[in-house]
Amino acid sequence: MTPASSSAKKVVKKTAEKTASKKAATSTKSSSIQFSAKVIDPVKHTTQCLVIAVYEGLKLSPAASSVDAADAHQLTALLKREGFQGKAGQSLLLLNPQGIAAERLLVLGFGSLKDGSVTADNFRRSAQKIGESLKPTPCSEITIALDEVSVAGQEIDWQARQIAEGLGQLEYRADGLKSKPTEISLQLKKVYLGTAKSQVAKATKGLDLGHAIAKGVNFTRNLGDLPGNICTPTYLAEQAKQLAKGQTKLSVNVLEEKQMKELGMGSFLSVAAGSEQPAKLIVLEYKGGNKKDAPVALVGKGITFDTGGISLKPGPAMDEMKYDMCGAASVLGTFQTLVELQLPINVVGVIATTENMPSGAATKPGDIVTSMSGLTIEILNTDAEGRLVLCDALTYTERFKPKAVVDIATLTGACVIALGNHATGLFSNNDDLAKSLLKAGEESADRAWQMPLWDDYQKQLDSNFADIANIGGREAGSVTAACFLSRFAKKFAWAHLDIAGTAWRSGGAKGATGRPVPLLVQYLLNQA
Ligand code: BES
Ligand code: MN
Ligand code: ZN
Repeated sequence: MTPASSSAKKVVKKTAEKTASKKAATSTKSSSIQFSAKVIDPVKHTTQCLVIAVYEGLKLSPAASSVDAADAHQLTALLKREGFQGKAGQSLLLLNPQGIAAERLLVLGFGSLKDGSVTADNFRRSAQKIGESLKPTPCSEITIALDEVSVAGQEIDWQARQIAEGLGQLEYRADGLKSKPTEISLQLKKVYLGTAKSQVAKATKGLDLGHAIAKGVNFTRNLGDLPGNICTPTYLAEQAKQLAKGQTKLSVNVLEEKQMKELGMGSFLSVAAGSEQPAKLIVLEYKGGNKKDAPVALVGKGITFDTGGISLKPGPAMDEMKYDMCGAASVLGTFQTLVELQLPINVVGVIATTENMPSGAATKPGDIVTSMSGLTIEILNTDAEGRLVLCDALTYTERFKPKAVVDIATLTGACVIALGNHATGLFSNNDDLAKSLLKAGEESADRAWQMPLWDDYQKQLDSNFADIANIGGREAGSVTAACFLSRFAKKFAWAHLDIAGTAWRSGGAKGATGRPVPLLVQYLLNQA
């Protein structure tokens, strides 16, 4: 890099952006919801809204039965009239219910009962309806009598967790940068879960866990949704430092370009070459476990905007490349939850963050760079930049002697073609690690699907001029991207999560999803 371009990088903070970034930071401090479990009588309990369950075939839950009995079976008559059958995901909001103290009654369908239980999927689907159904109401406090809905293979803490994980996401709003935020009536402050006395402690644990996951998810969604002119590598580094403030178990260290150069990170720096924004390597260390325990390492791709570089992307939907830092954001969100839960494990986070921009100083197709590992790379396409920043981050991670390394990256459009936006692509050099991550995905309803990492694909990365090329042709694009990373992950058990399809939604509902924070947290919980 020329001295001129390195000094240019230092004067990038424009005042307009500073103001906007201050605004964005305060907008995340929306009001927080208080979740608690307590014993309630569904008939006498005073609340702005009572939520009760009905099963397929109009079978009433105990709370629904009490309500029905209290109003001379008007409830059953009403449900029949409205064609409510109790199917999973059905919901009906009743105002001014008779015979009970609640101001509103939300009836949720949970599907069919088998051996007295509903399926986990149905419970989740129906629980999700709570927030949706109440959106038009001005409720600030609600009471949910769903502890009595038995879920196959699960206990009360699980139900509680689902409810807090779902409703906790109402704390995040994506309109923090509008001059007048959209008016939304629902401003939840208190959520009570009606629970048998013997189950209050267990339910409370579930609520706390679910809320902690929601906070991590919200943190990740907020960073993802922020535009590239606010959420820069410097901004991400500040967020990481902010997370560690006042925390005894978490420390954060940010490496600057000068240090990365000394470490020999020629691959990472080649992506940063065209940008005015200085690149950062953010290192987080959470020490909750024994000193001697090897940590799990989470490595995040943090391209705060991916133009493609000299291999410039086409115009349509290019704005969505602000989401190219969602891997990094998911690492930060997971650390937020870790801190919240004070989990007894050791976790390291390594975030490689930069923009990918075209300029006179940018890397060109055909350029050859030397990675920190010593391997030389022929950059045939500057838009395959994620692997170029991650390979050096992976090599850097070796120093922590991790027991497992998971990288998270919006790495390939090909992964979206393969799996759509339902499953995250999983690649691994270690079957046990792959199994643990797949299981964590199932358990958290944040699923991944394993893809092959066979040697057969490796030769697509052959280069005539360097040790390896950074692209492998049109076929199996997400696999050859993972193959590239695997060359830098030989010293540890490693898995790669391609979240290009799952990290955000496009179209009318455009917005970050916060995935795969639930999967990562579940994986860490299972380790603890
Ligand atoms: N960040 C993109 C991947 C991406 C594209 C994610 C679209 C979600 C939607 C990545 O840096 C990229 O550009 N990958 C290229 C690789 C190709 C040049 C080998 C891609 O997928 O087209
Ligand atoms: Mn790219
Ligand atoms: Zn990218």
